[in-house]
Amino acid sequence: MNLTVIGTGYVGLVTGTCLADMGNNVTCVDIDEDKVKAMKNGKIPIYEPNLEELFNKNIVGDRLHFTTNLKEAIQNSSVIFLALPTPQDEDGSADLSYVKGVAHDLGKMIKGYKVIINKSTVPVGTSDIVKDIISSHTNVAFDVVSNPEFLREGYAVKDFMEPERIIIGSKSKKAKSILSKLYKPFISTKRPIIFMDERSSELTKYASNCFLATKITFMNEVANLCEIIGSDVDMVRIGMGSDSRIGNRFLYPGIGYGGSCFPKDVNALVKSSDEANYDFKILKSVLDVNVQQKKSLVPKVSRYFNDNLKGKKVAIWGLAFKPNTDDVREAPAIDVINELLLQDVEITAYDPEAMPNIERIYGDKIQFGKNAYDILEDADCLLICTEWSEFTQPSFDKIKKLLKNPIVFDGRNMFDLEAMKHNGFHYESVGRKIVTI
Ligand code: UDX
Repeated sequence: MNLTVIGTGYVGLVTGTCLADMGNNVTCVDIDEDKVKAMKNGKIPIYEPNLEELFNKNIVGDRLHFTTNLKEAIQNSSVIFLALPTPQDEDGSADLSYVKGVAHDLGKMIKGYKVIINKSTVPVGTSDIVKDIISSHTNVAFDVVSNPEFLREGYAVKDFMEPERIIIGSKSKKAKSILSKLYKPFISTKRPIIFMDERSSELTKYASNCFLATKITFMNEVANLCEIIGSDVDMVRIGMGSDSRIGNRFLYPGIGYGGSCFPKDVNALVKSSDEANYDFKILKSVLDVNVQQKKSLVPKVSRYFNDNLKGKKVAIWGLAFKPNTDDVREAPAIDVINELLLQDVEITAYDPEAMPNIERIYGDKIQFGKNAYDILEDADCLLICTEWSEFTQPSFDKIKKLLKNPIVFDGRNMFDLEAMKHNGFHYESVGRKIVTI
């Protein structure tokens, strides 16, 4: 099939590349001329495991094309994906200006039947808004479908190629039949397409992300309680997770969730519920708890140093909001850094991918290292904010030699308590007993 993907951000680029790899002829459109020029030359603008290889393979195979010319891009394709940004407005709601702008353009340009598929996370009712905008310009037949994307950063290609489910929100027989054909290579009895109406599909995406954010937040609160009453959250987590109704995934407590999706989507669902006069209480609590949780490591450090951090030197391992990405959007490390800077702490930091993005925010207020160890020299303690695999089995002897004091505050529960005791560390983690020297 000839396909057009409008927007070459994260979702658009993965969608375009993976659909091209299934033999479709895909044209990706973006307004950013430099980006399009670079992509035409085989330069991929984002880091995502396995994507670059597929991207290049399909460019060479002449199935993946890039342009800034929307009119040309949609001429020969009846299937158009919208993968446009829906950033958070100041009031927490999703900003639909990009989606609406493209809907106006399409309304003015389409000449024959098109199915317009929205992949972005958009508030309930957006399909209707897009339909109304396009209809205000044309009498040509078209369908607007909601088809939310569930991919995770770091696993985007795998999640697209092997989705646990594909959600299609549409009442049009023609659109459903085109999409069934397009997605045929991706589905199986275990990985079905679930058809529903547009509004249910739009809510499914928000409800899924908000449920996962709630699951994590629930465990973060269980962990906070464990610290007070002396239980071990790791044991509680394993005990709970073995009930298949609960499941053991997304039960890991830590210093809060971050990233480009969960924070934005929880805010947006709270906002649209308020607008519908529904008080979504549990999600409001999730927002509150996560704000606190992201800062929760610093009071532990402060308490240890008798509430006087001024002039102390703190080393941080991990800056990205999660491992295997350079993305620092809403990363807990930022909250930690802000709190420490407020208390006049000297900060040294290391992250395998995300240092340039943090440097862009803080400039020379933070010192960065070439590796995990060279930031430890003469630091008063080590803080862990992201569970990169290269931190899993460090040389504890080396850490001890370099740090001024053998003290570790771990926001991601990376190490075994017994081992830390044996290695001679003061070790504080989340929801587990404090190991003392
Ligand atoms: C998420 C959804 O998983 C994905 O389906 C959606 O399309 C986009 O949003 P992503 O933001 O890439 O994906 O990251 P994810 O792996 O879900 O992690 C989100 C945050 O939750 C991270 O900050 C992570 O550290 C945190 N998390 C995750 C926990 O704190 N504990 C867990 O057990 C799992």
